[in-house]
Amino acid sequence: MAKTVVMDHPLIRHKIGIIRRKETGSKDFRQIISEIAMLMCYEATRDLPLQEVRIETPICATAAEELSGKKLAVVPILRAGLGMVDGMLTMIPSAKVGHIGLYRDPATLKPVEYYCKLPGDCSERDVFVVDPMLATGGSAVAAIQLLKEKGIKKIRFMCIIAAPEGIDAMRAAHPDVDLYIGAKDERLNEHGYIVPGLGDAGDRIFGTI
Ligand code: PRP
Ligand code: URA
Repeated sequence: MAKTVVMDHPLIRHKIGIIRRKETGSKDFRQIISEIAMLMCYEATRDLPLQEVRIETPICATAAEELSGKKLAVVPILRAGLGMVDGMLTMIPSAKVGHIGLYRDPATLKPVEYYCKLPGDCSERDVFVVDPMLATGGSAVAAIQLLKEKGIKKIRFMCIIAAPEGIDAMRAAHPDVDLYIGAKDERLNEHGYIVPGLGDAGDRIFGTI
């Protein structure tokens, strides 16, 4: 079974407290989502392999380290995942970005795919799938299934708020995928919203409430 990591860093916990507040407007919400993604990226990249290289400083020759292993890609689940892309690219600027468009049917809560555009060499990359919300887990499970069908082997999933139901669904469907979670909440309500959650992440990022 892959890792399930719930963030304990005080900066992340503080910032999640701000985006939960109903009075936080779209500008601040977007900014803080991006900052949380950047901080979470630091944790989610902790196991990237390094190799030793010889370099020269202005003073002398020495050993240094650089990232080795596969190239990286970030794949946001549209729309709300877009809010995490800038923060990820701040930390891993050479990553390519793919997009998967899914929306949750409000009646069935099942994901409906409407877009998929991935880097041409995506099967040779390790992928970070990002979406602020893991509720029933339907969207994340479907997005990751699609990536596996494209031949991607190593996938990490990052979300800011997760419901226990979504974590269980991901663990059952994709036990090989590492999960990085900003905060684990109590439950889903009867409409499939996370409690206490933060409301509809896409609407809050894009001001479409
Ligand atoms: C939200 C969220 C996730 C999904 C989570 O997207 O960003 O993608 O719901 O719910 P699930 O775990 O039950 O699938 P939504 O469908 O509202 O689309 P949007 O990002 O375009 O608003
Ligand atoms: N999608 C959201 O944006 N928020 C939730 O609470 C559940 C799904």
